[in-house]
Amino acid sequence: MPSVFIKTYGCQMNERDSEAVAAQLVAKGYSLAGSEDLADVVLLNTCSVRDMAEQKAINKMGALIGNARKRKTNQKFGFMGCMAQSRGKELIDRLPDVDLVLGTQKFHRAGEYIDALLAGNSKQVVDTEAEKGSEAAIREHINDGQSAKKAVTAFVSIMQGCNQYCTFCIVPYTRGKERSRTIEDIVKECRQLVDQGVKEITLLGQIVTSFGRREIGSKDDKSAFVQLIEAVHEIEGLDRIRFTSPHPKGYGDDLVQAFVDLPKLVESAHLPLQSGSNRMLKLMHRGYTRERFAEIIQKLRAVKPHMGIGTDIIVGFPGETEEDFQETMSLCQELQFQNAFIFKYSPRKNTPAAKMPDQLPEELIEERHARLLNAVDELRGGMYQDYVGQEVEILVEGPSRKNAERLEGRTRCNKIVIFDGGQRHIGQLMNVRVTSASPTTLYGDPAIVNLTE
Ligand code: 5AD
Repeated sequence: MPSVFIKTYGCQMNERDSEAVAAQLVAKGYSLAGSEDLADVVLLNTCSVRDMAEQKAINKMGALIGNARKRKTNQKFGFMGCMAQSRGKELIDRLPDVDLVLGTQKFHRAGEYIDALLAGNSKQVVDTEAEKGSEAAIREHINDGQSAKKAVTAFVSIMQGCNQYCTFCIVPYTRGKERSRTIEDIVKECRQLVDQGVKEITLLGQIVTSFGRREIGSKDDKSAFVQLIEAVHEIEGLDRIRFTSPHPKGYGDDLVQAFVDLPKLVESAHLPLQSGSNRMLKLMHRGYTRERFAEIIQKLRAVKPHMGIGTDIIVGFPGETEEDFQETMSLCQELQFQNAFIFKYSPRKNTPAAKMPDQLPEELIEERHARLLNAVDELRGGMYQDYVGQEVEILVEGPSRKNAERLEGRTRCNKIVIFDGGQRHIGQLMNVRVTSASPTTLYGDPAIVNLTE
């Protein structure tokens, strides 16, 4: 049977979509190739959130096609995901040897289209149409008994799309309007994963705080999203729950309280700030102020003082002045994020911000980006060091990505801990003592490990 190689760009949602497509193809009898050169079919699952991500995938496809021509292979090539959705046929006009362009509502059709391409029944396929019910179609997991390596953690997609229309953001155009799965359907998928050995589930969506807002609604002052977390929390054998990404606008007291009431919901929150300037937040159409954002963080820290809090920030949004930028700097200082992704503003096709006056020059954006990165790194500098000597609970996920001889687990606050251990530790919750720290990783001593199970 033919083999497939999938390369993924962008967010965890994309990783999840790639996994579902891989599982779907494996179920049809395809094998997963170890490299792009060995594969009969190469798929690039793309990201459109910044121009650089799009350019990377386009250049990669150009190189793949060039290489295939040189080696005279008969490989098939496809773009799927966000850039496939936003650029569609334009991608084939640019790279005529591309065989497949598959939009974000069509992942579940990958198998049939690839079969047809390989059988010679289709020449080229472009499908970026909307499809009703597609939010519930991404359900296969590679773990479904097909893989020898059992997964400890899994992503579960709970909804698709976003209605927030932040002025910089292309996501509403690539992922469409908000559509949520039912709680029953999601719980069923989670339960199956737990039956196969999964211990930690991350609930995924572009704006999870809007989950089921219209379809399900609030009950007893609990949002549909909190109702979902409660339902997943009931699954026996599941140890941990995470979610990403929430929007500050929907981060209600019910969600803060969930961290108190639901012990499986771990102390980790990724909450995108984007800017510390109220003027910028308004132009970005974010729907909150810096004061409201800080209040959410304070509430989270009031219930869980050691919560690991991460964020996303954009520098160089159109019209951003030095004063606006300083507001972002000062809020970072005030809130002390454990982790901050800092992005240079990138104008996106058809977004309102791309047409705003006062687009900033590249050099200024670069310079602010470097300054904020430095400041955030400095603020974070001591944070990992503070863990040395402490005992932390980790869920052991498998061999370390840095050194396969050692094992890697994650704390509840989402910090990676590397330690010496064996196969039998994988999937276990353990307490380890942190013995040393680098700026991004903790190291634990196996000598003082207590198995808790
Ligand atoms: N330019 C730069 N960064 C962006 N992001 C989203 N759109 C853009 C853009 N046009 C960032 C935001 C978001 C993260 C996933 O990507 O910070 O939270």
